Amino acid sequence: MKLKDNLLMRTKACIFDLDGVLVDTAKYHFLAWKRLTGMLKIKFTEKDNERLKGVSRMASLDIILEIGNVTLDDDLKEEYAGLKNKWYVDYITSMTPAEILPGSLEFIRELKGAGIKVALGSASKNTPMIISRVGMENLFDAVADGNIVSKAKPDPEVFLTAAKMLGVPPENCVVFEDAVAGIEAAHNAGMLCVGIGSDKMLKKAGIVVSGLDKMSLNKLREIEKISYHE
Ligand code: G6P
Ligand code: MG
Repeated sequence: MKLKDNLLMRTKACIFDLDGVLVDTAKYHFLAWKRLTGMLKIKFTEKDNERLKGVSRMASLDIILEIGNVTLDDDLKEEYAGLKNKWYVDYITSMTPAEILPGSLEFIRELKGAGIKVALGSASKNTPMIISRVGMENLFDAVADGNIVSKAKPDPEVFLTAAKMLGVPPENCVVFEDAVAGIEAAHNAGMLCVGIGSDKMLKKAGIVVSGLDKMSLNKLREIEKISYHE
C-alpha cells in the first residue's frame, strides 16, 4: 500500500454533528419523548432512544409509533411532534456553556488555528437555539441544520450542504458523528467519518474515539495516515 503524498494536508474542513458530539442533548430528547410515550401508553426505553439519534423529529415519531404498534393520521402526528418539541425546548432553554462536551472547544480552536474550516451539520431544527444557549454561535464557519436541509441522515444532504457553504470538496472533509445514521450520511457524502462514542455501537465508522477530548490535530493526522491509502 502506498500513502498518498498530500495526506497530511488532505483535511481542509471538519464538520461536527451537534447532539451527542458537541453537546449532550440526547438526555433531553429522551425526557421529552418519554413524556409523549407515557401519554400514548407506549413502552419506550433508553435503548429505543439510541435508534432516534441523528434521526429527524418526524422520523423519530414514526419509529416510536412503530415500537408501540400505533397508527395515527398526519394531523395528529404533527400535533404530537409539536408537543414533544415544546417540552424539549423547555429543557434546552436552560442549557449553559457548561454543557459543551469536554474537549470540543479546544479541538475546534486548534483546527481553526491550523487553517482548517469548521462547520456544524445537524438534523436539528433547534440548532440555532442550542448553539446560542451554550455560547457557540460565533464558532463555526458554516452551519447546516434541519432548518435548511430537508433530507434526513443517512441522506448526505446536510454534510454536502455544509461542505458547499465552506467551499471545500467533500473528499477534503472529515465528519465527527455519534449516530449510525450520521456515519452512513458522511460515507454517502464521500467523507471520512470519525465515530464519537463506543466501538461496539459505531463499528461502521472504522475509526472511533470516545469523545472530542481524545482528538487533537496530531490525532487527526494519524487518522488521515490510516485512512487515506491506496
Ligand atoms: C438530532 C438528534 C435527534 C433529533 C434530531 C432532530 O439529529 O440526534 O435525536 O431527533 O436532531 O431534532 P429537532 O431538534 O429538530 O427535533
Ligand atoms: Mg448526534
